[in-house]
Amino acid sequence: MSDMATPTHRTRVFSGVQPSGGLTLGNYLGALKRFVEAQERGTETLYCIVDLHAITVWQEPAKLRHATRELAAGFMAAGIDPARSILFNQSQVSAHAEMGWAFNCVARMGWLNRMTQFKDKAGKNRENASVGLFAYPNLMAADILTYHATHVPVGEDQKQHLELTRDIAIKFNHDYAVDFFPVVEPVIEGVATRVMSLRDGTKKMSKSDPSDMSRINLTDDADTIAQKFRKARTDPEPLPDAPEGLEGRAEARNLVNIYAALADCTPEAVLDAYGGQGFGAFKPALADLAVAKLAPINAEMARLMDDPAEIDRMLGEGADRAAALAHPILEAMFEIMGMVRSRPRTPR
Ligand code: AMP
Ligand code: TRP
Repeated sequence: MSDMATPTHRTRVFSGVQPSGGLTLGNYLGALKRFVEAQERGTETLYCIVDLHAITVWQEPAKLRHATRELAAGFMAAGIDPARSILFNQSQVSAHAEMGWAFNCVARMGWLNRMTQFKDKAGKNRENASVGLFAYPNLMAADILTYHATHVPVGEDQKQHLELTRDIAIKFNHDYAVDFFPVVEPVIEGVATRVMSLRDGTKKMSKSDPSDMSRINLTDDADTIAQKFRKARTDPEPLPDAPEGLEGRAEARNLVNIYAALADCTPEAVLDAYGGQGFGAFKPALADLAVAKLAPINAEMARLMDDPAEIDRMLGEGADRAAALAHPILEAMFEIMGMVRSRPRTPR
């Protein structure tokens, strides 16, 4: 990880995942696996299930509740230890929404108008998109800055939002003549920062893709995983001997990167082993590797989901710890802005 953003702020890692639909292999490799690595390095880590973000598009309440618990189970099954990381859902810590409002007043319309994710998600029907979908990056900035987080591991698709977070921190510090918010470092590293669709190597693997064959879900069983890799789109050429040979072969590159990320090795090492071989040999090996890595996560998720009350208890406890960290920072921000804060101060 790179050096701390500002010398006065110590390293604190924060990231969030939306509880909308299930987790994909893209989420696992681009986010969860790297969250676990940060935890294992002994860094202070906070991971948030961003339910307030999810409702920027319509969520059936029962499904949202289920998806929140399932995501919590996914985090833990992937290796997040609620004793060492703070794992919680966003709506239980009111500081996010409060700071998000303040940032609605810091960020400029022009900044948000440039956000490509809004354009993608709102599509042609912009007039009918929720205001929340438009303002969403401000809330994301609040998620991060209400903890004075310094490092944010995310996939490539979140880069623009992190730049906006930096812009908000800089403008706030400038407008109020303070050095209050750290300027955040994105942590977009590794071979799996953008896992692509199995049907189209130019599109990212996404839980919102209409085709289930385009993605591996963490809840897929072994047969489904094998079948999806077998049917994954590829070209007729054998694998090259070195990564340069993957140029212009998006689908082949994607499968090699997925293998490398799952095996914790480099694409070079994968091609050392499989260069010259066809997909007839590579795909089953990839499927076996994926099943070996994902099956235990899958089983552990199912086990945890048998006791939703325990998941809820754990999320509540995480939220208490998160609120204790967020509260003084939120209060300090409101003080800086000139709000009268005269109630007894207890974290909410
Ligand atoms: P989301 O599911 O959109 O809330 O994303 C949660 C995290 O997973 C974010 O850090 C994303 O950048 C990451 N992510 C989502 N899809 C992919 C993908 N296809 N490849 C790599 N990372 C991804
Ligand atoms: N916007 C992120 C996504 O869609 C999720 C997210 C919300 C997030 N708040 C965050 C990620 C704060 C990192 C930090 O994937």
